[in-house]
Amino acid sequence: MLILGIDTSCDDTSASVVEDGRRIVSNIVSSQSDIHAKYGGIVPELASRRHIEMIIPVVDEALKKAGVPLREIAAVAVCHGPGLIGSLLIGCSFAKALCYSAKVPLVAVNHLEGHILSPFLAAPVPEFPFLSLVVSGGHTSLYAGEGFGNYHELGRTRDDAAGEAYDKVSKLLGLGYPGGPVIDRLAQKGDGRAIDFPRAYLPETYDFSFSGLKTAVLNFLRSRSGNNMPDAATLDEGMIGNIAASFQTAVVDVLVRKTEWAIRKKRIKRVALSGGVAANNELRKRMKQMGAERDVEVFIPPAVLCTDNAAMIATAGYHHFIDGELAGPGLNPRAYLPL
Ligand code: KG4
Ligand code: ZN
Repeated sequence: MLILGIDTSCDDTSASVVEDGRRIVSNIVSSQSDIHAKYGGIVPELASRRHIEMIIPVVDEALKKAGVPLREIAAVAVCHGPGLIGSLLIGCSFAKALCYSAKVPLVAVNHLEGHILSPFLAAPVPEFPFLSLVVSGGHTSLYAGEGFGNYHELGRTRDDAAGEAYDKVSKLLGLGYPGGPVIDRLAQKGDGRAIDFPRAYLPETYDFSFSGLKTAVLNFLRSRSGNNMPDAATLDEGMIGNIAASFQTAVVDVLVRKTEWAIRKKRIKRVALSGGVAANNELRKRMKQMGAERDVEVFIPPAVLCTDNAAMIATAGYHHFIDGELAGPGLNPRAYLPL
């Protein structure tokens, strides 16, 4: 059974054809990074306008690459939140019009469920129950996944998401947007123990906090500039590498330790990682190490399936579709949409 997934929740326009919720037949992601890079973050209005331009070519390409005509698609799964409302509107309006005109069923998918289920697009797939750590630009949450459609949030960030902290630190360092990939790369040349940035472990909770870490990087830059302004231009390459690596070590220490605690508390010996920050090399390595030491299975999809993509939306949509959960022309996107 083929599902066409569509995701326009943030700054990527994506469409994908997935078979039986597991096999990717095509997955097209049109990135807007070049548009937003010079602003150091996403400009919502520019994101919506770009989605309008890209949605038809991206869906067309996904169907063409899959070699599948629209009449062979069993259902269209569209992400209806959470995300940027203007961006979500484009995907939802497009999907509703397409389904109405082509008489194809429509399914609505929560973006976070897409991330949680993205490990099902790789091999081996996790069995339920598993702990799911979703670490992206908008979210950092731990869930207990009990079954398809059955996820219980254990905790979440109380302020910035981990990816948001990467993006803000990158902006402070003059490294542009998105910050994750560039900090990931520069950190490989730096010393992760060079600067002792704070870690908010928030003991006995499943919650996270990253805004203090971001402020610590800001204060560090201020203290070095001599004029109390965070001036990255005065830093040499070695120092930038050390800041990137030390910041990243602090983020990864917290994510790994919190996951370890959740494993012990919940007695669940399977962990799945997803969201853009799960593309991070250090996090992937350290989480796998932790898994090997504690005899815990760790599932991390390939990096392209960690960042936003429509294949994960098609996968989640497949399970809703076979359960008969359809959406109609009244479907409206929601910027805040709990799982
Ligand atoms: O899941 P995603 O594509 O979009 C959201 O749903 O937010 O995640 C985007 C976030 C950005 O903050 C980006 O900087 C971060 O993921 N990211 C990374 C890496 N690649 C993307 N963070 C750390 N290391 C990476 N390699
Ligand atoms: Zn996402």
